[in-house]
Amino acid sequence: MKHVCVLGATGSIGLSTADVIMQHPHDFAVDTLVAHRNVAEMSRLMAQLHPRCVVLTDEQAADDLRQRHPVTDIIIASGMDAATEAAADPRSDTVVAAMVGAAGVPATLAAVQAGKTVCLANKECLVTAGRLFMRTAEACGATIVPVDSEHAAVHQALQGHDRDSVRRIILTASGGPFRQRSPESLLNVTPEEAIAHPNWDMGAKISVDSATMMNKALELIEARWLFDAAPETLEAIIHPQSIVHAMVEYNDGSVLAQMAMPDMRSPIAYALQSTPRLSSGIPWLELAQQQPLEFFAIDTARFPAMALVQQVMRGDDGLAVIMNAANEVANEAFRQRRIGFMAIVALVEQTLAAMTCTPVTTLKDIWQLDQHSRLTTEELISR
Ligand SMILES: NC(=O)c1ccc[n+]([C@@H]2O[C@H](COP(=O)([O-])OP(=O)(O)OC[C@H]3O[C@@H](n4cnc5c(N)ncnc54)[C@H](OP(=O)(O)O)[C@@H]3O)[C@@H](O)[C@H]2O)c1
Repeated sequence: MKHVCVLGATGSIGLSTADVIMQHPHDFAVDTLVAHRNVAEMSRLMAQLHPRCVVLTDEQAADDLRQRHPVTDIIIASGMDAATEAAADPRSDTVVAAMVGAAGVPATLAAVQAGKTVCLANKECLVTAGRLFMRTAEACGATIVPVDSEHAAVHQALQGHDRDSVRRIILTASGGPFRQRSPESLLNVTPEEAIAHPNWDMGAKISVDSATMMNKALELIEARWLFDAAPETLEAIIHPQSIVHAMVEYNDGSVLAQMAMPDMRSPIAYALQSTPRLSSGIPWLELAQQQPLEFFAIDTARFPAMALVQQVMRGDDGLAVIMNAANEVANEAFRQRRIGFMAIVALVEQTLAAMTCTPVTTLKDIWQLDQHSRLTTEELISR
């Protein structure tokens, strides 16, 4: 029986994780659920999963949750420190890291330092602190298993193969809702249009990242660290049907692709347990009934994030910290209708150009650069 802590339990990945866990009550027990302030969803999860402890990082929301459950044997804790302690608590052996954004980094690192199996959905951990995470995992005996569908696909296509024989790792991208729109027509798109992803049902931030393709840019950086891959061996290709999630090309010309219906419960089930495979509840893939599977090169004029990431991956580690923080600010500003859609990546580019990249070896260095980048992007927005 695995004992699981879910960071970001009330979000899209968190709820899919709960769904998989509920299908396998004899294989998993939930130790702790962590979220920010979604009291209603956390209440539902408490009833469904019976965790030992829940944490809401927002103090007021935790008080509301306590008032809703005056008599319960579930511990209700609050604050970011409680989230980090929960991630490191020895009563769980497996941590699903699905808090959104840079807020998820300290708790996830605590789980890695505690030597746990970390099912990693939070992109920012590896994007901002990839070197630190991978080194810490090695030193502390932690296992990092990707939850992102593309990285889970690469993980599967690499199993049992010689790493020196890998020529390319190719991640697929759906192209998001604006794949066929001209850059000019994107000037006035609304957050609602950007969030309406054609294939995946995801949180708002990542849906906007998909529309700008910043999501794929961040995923390339993640892949670099997860698979210890040189930037020149990493590529992305548009595949609108989102059936092939990634491919690994070997020196003999053989390409191994992983396919599944686009539903995050499949990579979550694989991350929770790869052998024997768990049923995940996703629909079976009937290829004969699918639309033709198509692949297209990425147009970097329409998706400038993909050109930008090539520079970032080839430069100092701190460039990814600046890129990620600037993107978080610009993404949110777009969702708040403070800037237009095309300004998101432009602002990231301007922030990278305006800042000096400082060395990032500790979480504190990363934090400082992250904060500096956020302020720079905010200043650029308010000009
Ligand atoms: N959704 C996908 O299909 C997908 C695929 C691959 C990777 N990912 C990655 O997985 C992560 C989660 O994505 P998502 O789509 O599930 O996001 P989401 O639906 O927006 O959910 C985010 C979760 O994080 C919690 N959270 C936010 N800020 C927090 C804080 N300060 N302290 C504690 N908890 C906090 C939220 O709690 P409240 O609900 O209480 O606010 C919620 O549980 C992201 O890094 C994303 O890039 C997602």
